[in-house]
Amino acid sequence: MRIDIVTIFPEFFGVLDISLLGKARAAGLIEVGVHDLREHTHDRHRTVDDTPYGGGAGMVMKPEPWGEALDGIVGSEASDALLVVPSPAGEPFTQAIARELAEEDHLVFACGRYEGIDQRVVDHYATRMRVRLISLGDYVLNGGEVAVMAMIEAAGRLVPGVVGNPESLVEESHEDGLLEYPSYTKPAEWRGFEVPPVLLSGNHGAIAAWRREQQLERTKRVRPELLP
Ligand code: ADE
Repeated sequence: MRIDIVTIFPEFFGVLDISLLGKARAAGLIEVGVHDLREHTHDRHRTVDDTPYGGGAGMVMKPEPWGEALDGIVGSEASDALLVVPSPAGEPFTQAIARELAEEDHLVFACGRYEGIDQRVVDHYATRMRVRLISLGDYVLNGGEVAVMAMIEAAGRLVPGVVGNPESLVEESHEDGLLEYPSYTKPAEWRGFEVPPVLLSGNHGAIAAWRREQQLERTKRVRPELLP
């Protein structure tokens, strides 16, 4: 998989060098390009934003640097890449979307700042490639960078080979639509708290039933809207 990120804060994505995704990059499973939007400005102040037409607070990102930066990545004709624009006005990001992103060959992320990117950037690229506006959740971040980091981490770990033991992906929260069951490791007792005895029983049927019960109880208590 190839990932390109356009941002005014390229340093932000230095964390992609470490941890699981860093290993995936080193192993050649995921290739990442980080592009500084300001490289595509042509004025002394490297301006990327301007006041909104129609008035109002805040600044809007100008379309020209975006056009130049994105054309540099996807070319100036039709592209098979998927352009992802993080936005609080987008569809909510879910594990199902992470799975869809993980199947793409080429993802391009456009990190907006300020009050967003001039709408014509999305409208223009939507004429020659797939474009998705995706929200990390119902709250406002200062820009798309944190949202993109979360999407890359969630999708990247689903790319075959990135997570060493693929079975560990199966029993996670949200994979079966429920929250995951609580986990325990040694010692069997810690600060007066004991590991639930069923987990020490060796009875795999009873353990599976207990875990399922825990998933349902947790989901009902914390996220009832996830239950069918
Ligand atoms: N940019 C600002 N807020 C955001 C959010 N909630 N999700 C995605 N991108 C954003």
